[in-house]
Amino acid sequence: MRKSVLNKLNFLLNSRSLLCSNAFYSRQLSTKINRDHKIPDDNLTLKDFLVVGKNLPKQNIKYEGTDENEDILPPYLQNIDIDGQGRKVYFDVYGCQMNVNDIEIVWSILKSHNYKKTQELMEADVILIMTCSIRDSAETKIWNRLTHLTGMKRKRPKNQPLNIGILGCMAERLKETLIEKERQIDLIAGPDAYKDLPRLLSLSKNGYSTINVLLSLDETYADVMPVKFDKNAVSAFVSIMRGCDNMCSYCIVPFTRGKERSRPIDSIVKEIRTLHEEQGIKEVTLLGQNVNSYRDTSKGIKDCPTELVTGFKTVYKTKVGGLRFGELIEHVANISPELRIRFTSPHPKDFPKSLLEVINNYPNICKSLHIPAQSGSSSVLERMRRGYTREAYLELIRDVRKIIPNVSLSSDFISGFCGETEDDFQQTLSLINQVKYNVAFLFPYSMRAKTTAYRKFTDDVPNDIKLERLHRMVETFRENAQVLNEKFIGTKQLILIEDTSKRSEKEVYGRCDGNIKVIIPSSDKFSIGDYVAVEITSASSQVLKGFPLEKISLTDFYRQC
Ligand code: 5AD
Ligand code: SF4
Repeated sequence: MRKSVLNKLNFLLNSRSLLCSNAFYSRQLSTKINRDHKIPDDNLTLKDFLVVGKNLPKQNIKYEGTDENEDILPPYLQNIDIDGQGRKVYFDVYGCQMNVNDIEIVWSILKSHNYKKTQELMEADVILIMTCSIRDSAETKIWNRLTHLTGMKRKRPKNQPLNIGILGCMAERLKETLIEKERQIDLIAGPDAYKDLPRLLSLSKNGYSTINVLLSLDETYADVMPVKFDKNAVSAFVSIMRGCDNMCSYCIVPFTRGKERSRPIDSIVKEIRTLHEEQGIKEVTLLGQNVNSYRDTSKGIKDCPTELVTGFKTVYKTKVGGLRFGELIEHVANISPELRIRFTSPHPKDFPKSLLEVINNYPNICKSLHIPAQSGSSSVLERMRRGYTREAYLELIRDVRKIIPNVSLSSDFISGFCGETEDDFQQTLSLINQVKYNVAFLFPYSMRAKTTAYRKFTDDVPNDIKLERLHRMVETFRENAQVLNEKFIGTKQLILIEDTSKRSEKEVYGRCDGNIKVIIPSSDKFSIGDYVAVEITSASSQVLKGFPLEKISLTDFYRQC
């Protein structure tokens, strides 16, 4: 009897993906596996569940901070209580800022289903781990954490059960093999399956292992207002698009995060207005895997002409129509002159001159641009499928500096990509020396299964050489950053006070427009969340130090300077 119920559940779950095939493109892996981890036999046909699907009843779920209702519940759940009943959830977050934002989306969804948040691991009923797959080292860290958490779960008394869920990129990359490897895992949900979490969690509570790693063509969580973990934060991340179509040959992101899709502009502006006007947020960072590739093509949006940066090409057909990132950021900048705007992570191909001009024209858009180069060698860039040469990248940097004279730059670089010779690597060092970055994110190459590099190339640079090259990149970057940062000494900078310094209670810190951390002595004349004009007195390659001149509005500061 129990087995036939499991079979039915399994197929009904799978039916959801097919019934919604206009919205989803990947195979849904929403499988019920019973506790001895055997997948039930298939004894129904596609026809069986399509007939069931035709009668899908509508059920309304209201998400935190929105008026919109979603009819996403399939019929078998009518009798399963998806209410959290006050169960306590502990969140563990790894990886990028998108993950930080995603966990706030998850929390919003669970909060509106009567879950509570806890910061005490021992009292948690559910532990959800937001994971990262970008490099092998990121996954190793998470496996180590899992060993600790599953050990804890095993020791739990029967009357205090614990469910462990894996969310995000690792869930998407490894799918059911995660449960095969670690049987204490109860739930696996990919980046586009978070609205399904109340259902998945209810099923886990009832003793099932649950998986939903369906990727979507249109899920942007536009209708979910993320709930901030830190109520006192003065800055916030706002996700504006998801996914990536670039398919750089080393990168797992297009496989774990799916196709590019952008949130409609209205929902973005509404969220930012609420953050600024009702929650006191003074700085927003617009987020996306390919943030400046943003394109709102929703109904009623006028077409803005496509403007390609010379020397850049894409592996996909150039996107046309809709509203681009340049127009979006202008709308966001117009919300309030007292709201500072940053964005990450962009691709160099999507920096047309019109966007650079908008950035230069608005005092509240920070003049700090992340322009990830990845390598300084054109032949490595070609193998990476980045769509540009060293020369095209340098040409873009020249334009950026011409249009935004005081711009601060940051970049990502990878050492030891497939086939990288010492000569290729020297070109990376020379690019770092030539461009001079204020901030850099430097990584040794980590081969990821499924990627083009995995299929076509050999991971032939030995690990010790990757690390030795990484070390040289760090040195080269630091020498240049030290010189650049010293140029700030004696200048006046505007910083937004973020928090008390971790080293001393007598100091606070914030970031200047160029996104460099600035430490100043604390004072009763200003507090966290204030803009303060600061004179810079010393500099290292990582931080600036200074003394406060006056508390000031962003508008007044830029009027004076
Ligand atoms: N190995 C090392 N670094 C990687 N990145 C992406 N994929 C890999 C990989 N397989 C780096 C790139 C990217 C940043 C987010 O992570 O530099 O810009
Ligand atoms: Fe990965 Fe390239 Fe997309 Fe960035 S642009 S997420 S590096 S595929």
